[in-house]
Amino acid sequence: MARLQWLGLIAAAALAVAGGAHAEGDKAAGRKLVYTCNGCHGVVGYENVYPSYPVPKIAGQNAQYITAALHGYKTGERKHPTMNAQAESLSDKDIADIAAYLSSIAK
Ligand code: HEC
Repeated sequence: MARLQWLGLIAAAALAVAGGAHAEGDKAAGRKLVYTCNGCHGVVGYENVYPSYPVPKIAGQNAQYITAALHGYKTGERKHPTMNAQAESLSDKDIADIAAYLSSIAK
């Protein structure tokens, strides 16, 4: 009996790890995807490349916030021509990957 419970625990832990990795998105993939975003959001130096064109800082933001923002732009719920165009081509997985990467960067 004790042995069976132990096996159940291991199975539950394995499921939790697999599930967590999926929900979190793939940081490495996200890192490649945000390459094009850096032109405006300047993730690396946390500064905008064009001082006359203000863009929000997205590095270090909460993953859920980034996901919600990108889905909003993708569906047109949140309107901004530039970001609507950017988000249009992103799949749900891309958005999860981007959110995982950006939220993993220190502010
Ligand atoms: C051409 C410039 C440009 C590019 C390229 C760009 N963005 Fe943006 N982004 C903006 C601007 C400007 C805003 C502010 C829009 C607004 O006021 O809603 C914004 C807003 C955002 C927001 C919302 C931030 C907040 O604080 O609410 C997120 C998230 C975001 N961008 C992610 C991305 C990602 C991910 C990419 C790459 C796939 C990207 N952006 C590419 C200019 C850009």
